[in-house]
Amino acid sequence: MISIVLEVNGDRHELEVEPRKLLSDVLRQDLGLTGTHVGCEHGVCGCCTILVDDQPARSCLMLAATADGARIDTVEGLQQPDGTLHPLQEAFHKHHGLQCGFCTPGFLMLASTLYKQAPGMTDEQIRTALGGQLCRCTGYVGIVRAVRAAAALEDER
Ligand code: FES
Ligand code: FES
Repeated sequence: MISIVLEVNGDRHELEVEPRKLLSDVLRQDLGLTGTHVGCEHGVCGCCTILVDDQPARSCLMLAATADGARIDTVEGLQQPDGTLHPLQEAFHKHHGLQCGFCTPGFLMLASTLYKQAPGMTDEQIRTALGGQLCRCTGYVGIVRAVRAAAALEDER
């Protein structure tokens, strides 16, 4: 076992982990943050996308030990402490950006890095930016609409 420190959604965690343990498993099993979903487990579907030091990363491809000292954001950290949804969460709800919801945490986390630029992007550019995330339900139309709408919802607040 090795000792690591992770700052997850603003909280510091000191953990003892097996060197081979995946970051996705530490988030889900050790910290109980099951909002990070695991689908393919080999870097294809994007369900497990989180932010590591503000950069999107596939947590199923990263060892927790590699993230030692990093600042991590997961979907649980998107809403405000008072329960107010993040504009992206509100937009996904409003524009039907999800059906089963399995892919949604990954989409939300990746989109959180780009939604402010989305109003100036074409649908094709948004689709390309989200191209690494797979959704088996929605056909992506609602997702693109939601990502485009989130910045405006934020401005209305
Ligand atoms: S579970 Fe990580 S990319 Fe699919
Ligand atoms: S909403 Fe079901 S996989 Fe995307």
